[in-house]
Amino acid sequence: MHQPAITGTGVFTPENVITNAELVQAFNAYADKQNALNAGAIAAGTVDAIPHSSEEFIVKASGIEQRFVLDKTGVLNPDIMYPQLRQRSDDEPGVMAEMAVDAAQKALAQAGKTAADVDAVICAASNMERAYPAVAIEIQKLLGIEGFAFDMNVACSSATFGIQAAADMVRAGTIRSALVVNPEICSGHLEWRDRDCHFIFGDVATATLIERMEDATGPCFEIISTRCATEFSNNIRNNNGFLRRSRPDGVKDRRDMQFMQNGRKVFKEVVPMVSQHITDHITDMDIANTGLKRLWLHQANKSMNDFIGKKVMGRTPEPSEQPNILQDYANTSSAGSIIAFSQNSDDLTEGDIGLICSFGAGYSVGSVILRRHA
Ligand SMILES: CC(C)(COP(=O)(O)OP(=O)(O)OC[C@H]1O[C@@H](n2cnc3c(N)ncnc32)[C@H](O)[C@@H]1OP(=O)(O)O)[C@@H](O)C(=O)NCCC(=O)NCCS
Repeated sequence: MHQPAITGTGVFTPENVITNAELVQAFNAYADKQNALNAGAIAAGTVDAIPHSSEEFIVKASGIEQRFVLDKTGVLNPDIMYPQLRQRSDDEPGVMAEMAVDAAQKALAQAGKTAADVDAVICAASNMERAYPAVAIEIQKLLGIEGFAFDMNVACSSATFGIQAAADMVRAGTIRSALVVNPEICSGHLEWRDRDCHFIFGDVATATLIERMEDATGPCFEIISTRCATEFSNNIRNNNGFLRRSRPDGVKDRRDMQFMQNGRKVFKEVVPMVSQHITDHITDMDIANTGLKRLWLHQANKSMNDFIGKKVMGRTPEPSEQPNILQDYANTSSAGSIIAFSQNSDDLTEGDIGLICSFGAGYSVGSVILRRHA
């Protein structure tokens, strides 16, 4: 048996930023155009007018101030309202692979390791760019890693579930180390024409290197314990899939072929589920909430994180104890808690304990308890 540890993390951030002001301006232009087109039907009462979005609502309801995206011109064009990416040939790296390689190289550099030190790649994300070959195998090839690679998808919890899979393999001795990468192109599955959710997501890629602790050459985070749980729910759903053309109305521009959620219900049901999950996990590991130096939570909604932090800690945590990055990145699905961890963990000292927790569609919740070794 070997002790697994996180020895490096990396974040790829796209160059394009969309502020709430830009987003709302584009959405409102789209709404005005649609309403003008449908003026007759709206007057006759057969079609509802599309109401304007507002910056104030977005910040108050979610805490999100901006998001990074691979393409902003398509998203902000009221006649398009989705990202437009360059067509790539099959001989070129895919977009997900390219983002993941950037994040993975940063994680390797932080750990002081090279591709030769890695035995496996897990590409864990909410969506895959294609059905096959696995995106993870392409990333493995681009990085020059021997061994094996596979894709997995547990939506927003993909990263923590991937870390558990990697940690278990390191512990068992199947592998010495694995890169868990989370390239999330959320702009591709967000319905930018829906006021209720158009502000939610952004694009990013994260990478986490998991190694035997004895192989760490610098500061690392011992993986004390991982815990994953799922419970089926339709409250976050996307019906796009490979059987689409086989259905009578499958090829239509259908709303359910993009991200859909019942946000209120998600909020109400997931907050208690996650708070209980974290409390049970640390209790079972004999860790008191007073012993938790940091919570790196999934980044979907600031109020949601405030509730969870307060319930778990038994008091209102200081912002530094429960860092949020969603104001800058928005919800980046599985990558969110890893960005929070990557950008807010260097200051912890020997023996400090922290916990990464993801949650989302499925429902799914995954927690990783870490101990700092300086
Ligand atoms: C999505 C979310 C931010 C919405 O916040 P909310 O407080 O629940 O807001 P609601 O959807 O109830 O909408 C409240 C009102 O604002 C309106 N509204 C919605 N979007 C708006 C926008 N962009 N601009 C202005 N008003 C808006 C609604 O129409 C509604 O109006 P009504 O009261 O007249 O019906 C919030 O529910 C959330 O984050 N939930 C958790 C989501 C989550 O974690 N999902 C996981 C994804 S992976």
